[in-house]
Amino acid sequence: MEFLGIDRVVYGSSNLSQANDFFTQWGLQRVFKGVKKLVFETGNGNQVIVVKNDDPSLAPKIADHQEFREVIYGLSKQSDFDQLHTNLSHDRSVTVDQEGVMHTVDDSGIHIGFRVVRDKKRTSPPATLWNSPGQKKRVDLISAVYSQAHPFKMGHIVFFVPDTKVAENFYRQRLGFWLSDRYVGGAGVFLRWAKRSEHHNLFFVKSRTNSLALHHIAFEVDSIHEVFGGGLAFANKGWPTEVGPGRHPISSAYFWYFKNPMGGAVEYFCDADFVTEKWQPHQYRINRFSEWHLIDGIQIKDDGKVRPSLKSAKEIDLQKKNEMAAMTKVNK
Ligand SMILES: [Fe+2]
Repeated sequence: MEFLGIDRVVYGSSNLSQANDFFTQWGLQRVFKGVKKLVFETGNGNQVIVVKNDDPSLAPKIADHQEFREVIYGLSKQSDFDQLHTNLSHDRSVTVDQEGVMHTVDDSGIHIGFRVVRDKKRTSPPATLWNSPGQKKRVDLISAVYSQAHPFKMGHIVFFVPDTKVAENFYRQRLGFWLSDRYVGGAGVFLRWAKRSEHHNLFFVKSRTNSLALHHIAFEVDSIHEVFGGGLAFANKGWPTEVGPGRHPISSAYFWYFKNPMGGAVEYFCDADFVTEKWQPHQYRINRFSEWHLIDGIQIKDDGKVRPSLKSAKEIDLQKKNEMAAMTKVNK
């Protein structure tokens, strides 16, 4: 099974004007504007589609407080599409629309789909030259400055689910996804759609309320300069930050998350780990720095409310203190 990525994400909206401002200012190119529908594209042609939320063609919401409707994955081969259709039709309703997009529901209740697409390659972005104490690679040159991000693709999507094992089993056993890492105790699981891929393309977080919701969709940009420049530009337009900028200890990506008025968050990220069949999945404890907002609810909760968690902050402070103490010991 050869997946090419997240080909489309579909939202509903009661306010298409706001949706238009949000995604154009995010840096996507609007390729269609109708009375009831907007279509935006990333650099490689991944699409974000926003449809007036009373349109009967939309998939149902997965959470009352959100307008996320469906995610469509791109496949490179018609034979994979046909095989998936046969496989999934055994135990669920599967339809194919006039455009040739297959629609169904995964074992967690998330509306998913598949379509055959062409892989759009890109020329390499300019290399990021780093200066460090022992090595100066950028000499007599000013570093890249971005006044607007233009995301190249959608790299991963993250959901709160009642049971991460159910989610993992479906994607690994039915779609052939690979395990990248886990949080212990079923708190979270990182999956990727190919043995050679970015660290994760799907991440499931255990919902404390046993409910289903979108957490965020991540858009890949060229470099840390575009994360910062794009994030600053978006923030200056008045869109509220969810968390960031920062760097994930798991996947190593630099990030900046913003709240999406249609539900969940959107993320600029860059420089994620790329892993292969040699990668050994880890079992991580929760509450590692900068993952806390995902697990312990410092920012988005799966009911959509924002509540800081003192418990998380204290645990992180203690962990950092212990790490500093350990480093001091080593340096002595
Ligand atoms: Fe992310």
